Amino acid sequence: MVQGDYPKRFMIKNICCIGAGYVGGPTMSVIADRCPHLNINVVDLNKKRIEAWNSKDLNKLPIFEPGLDEVVGNTRGKNLFFSTNVGESIKKADMVFISVNTPTKSRGIGSGEASDLSWVESCARDVAKYAEGHTIVIEKSTLPVKTAATIKSILNSVKNSFKDTEKSFAVLSNPEFLAEGTAISDLKNPDRVLIGGEDHDAIEALANIYKSWIVDEKIIRTNLWSSELSKLAANAFLAQRVSSINSLSAFCEETGANIYEVSKAIGLDNRIGDKFLKAGPGFGGSCFKKDILNLVYLSRSLGLDEVADYWESVLQINNWQQKRIYKKIVSTLFGNISNKQIGILGFAFKSNTNDFRESPAISICRDLLEERAILKIHDPKVEAKDIEKALENEFSDIDNCNNKKSRDQGGYFVVEKEIEKTFYNSHAVVILTEWEEYKIIDWENFTKNMIAPSWIFDTRNVIDESDFKSNNCNIWKIGNGIKN
Ligand code: UDX
Ligand code: ADP
Repeated sequence: MVQGDYPKRFMIKNICCIGAGYVGGPTMSVIADRCPHLNINVVDLNKKRIEAWNSKDLNKLPIFEPGLDEVVGNTRGKNLFFSTNVGESIKKADMVFISVNTPTKSRGIGSGEASDLSWVESCARDVAKYAEGHTIVIEKSTLPVKTAATIKSILNSVKNSFKDTEKSFAVLSNPEFLAEGTAISDLKNPDRVLIGGEDHDAIEALANIYKSWIVDEKIIRTNLWSSELSKLAANAFLAQRVSSINSLSAFCEETGANIYEVSKAIGLDNRIGDKFLKAGPGFGGSCFKKDILNLVYLSRSLGLDEVADYWESVLQINNWQQKRIYKKIVSTLFGNISNKQIGILGFAFKSNTNDFRESPAISICRDLLEERAILKIHDPKVEAKDIEKALENEFSDIDNCNNKKSRDQGGYFVVEKEIEKTFYNSHAVVILTEWEEYKIIDWENFTKNMIAPSWIFDTRNVIDESDFKSNNCNIWKIGNGIKN
């Protein structure tokens, strides 16, 4: 079906996306690339972020994603625009995507579990105020089930209070399933696109955009609540697989089984499949924890305590895995890491992203610093200022020791640009992110400069043991125990 087949009010020309973050930026860039007939304005209140999206040097975009520079380069200034003109862009838009942050509430009812919807609510109020004519409003951010009802109610009540009969709205849920690090390829070739809603014409208007590059069989239409729940459920299932394999990694270390062999053996079962079976230091990222907490909160609110307990245990295993690794490091280094230098390889929550939100590296580093270790942290993409922010300044030695803690006491960290420097004088090096550059380390040479008995803790299975030709050093691999 082509655009011309729709009633005029569903012909889409101008799109506004509120929120230029990890979801809004890449998603709109790919839509602009695939739909040159659409005009897309991505708006954000954060001026610095918008400046970064507009920076001439495509290496300076606010987000690192393989292939993002190319799609932005193709479209920016042609049919893709980044600005802070929220009201103006909403006014022109036939379709508004809400793509703002929805962190876990830190106070009040539902604190620590429920999503904080202040940003979504404020967007809905902006849309109600500035929209003209008929506007399709789309939830793109991951939201608790029934948020669409909140958005609808705000849109309609603000509209009524202005006595504006010209305005009308349709609300859809269109959750994003992209994973960071593969966002552009996920967007260009998704497993499925999910559109939830009640308004048939609005659903088809959105489906029609996706049909520019995605076959119709992959575009699933559901009711609003199924769509909202499917997003939470997909993330909860993926996280549950990671916690399952991580729980068994501990079992393997105790018994002599090898988690990589176990993953392979079970992953070859067609019914199980081989994805999300890599043991590691625990899952991170902005979605898994937040979405499970949400599911737990909603389940409890609905009186489904057993359901809530079930999903909560996925998070408990994840926290336990991070603590377990930290404790393993301490016990291996003779129960004492005070003033001992430890190299940390990787701070991002996974490779190919500069995102460190909920990264297991944060909790593991903090615990090591509490034990007064001296950390030398390397990450190819996460910036020093972000590492400092994540570890909350208190442990930082970025200004070469102008901080509260004196050097003699340990308990501080330094960010290193060169991998090799994390090995000099270190008692241990811990691999926390599976970056490609860590797979090709010259182990024999680098480990020479460590303090014996020295250890490499590989929490991501990046070391190929046949390559690990070092007589200087012991190696511990997650789910496989101690080697050498
Ligand atoms: C996830 C979902 O995959 C995506 O569909 C959703 O839109 C957002 O949340 P993301 O957080 O970008 O995406 O990363 P993902 O690749 O899912 O990894 C999440 C965490 O699990 C990472 O810390 C990763 O290292 C960890 N993980 C993943 C494992 O430890 N083992 C695995 O086998 C897979
Ligand atoms: P996500 O990972 O879901 O994309 P991010 O935190 O990366 O989340 O991005 C969300 C963006 O939304 C932030 O840049 C924030 O400034 C922006 N934002 C939040 N509320 C509003 C609002 N009311 N109007 C415009 N932008 C907003």
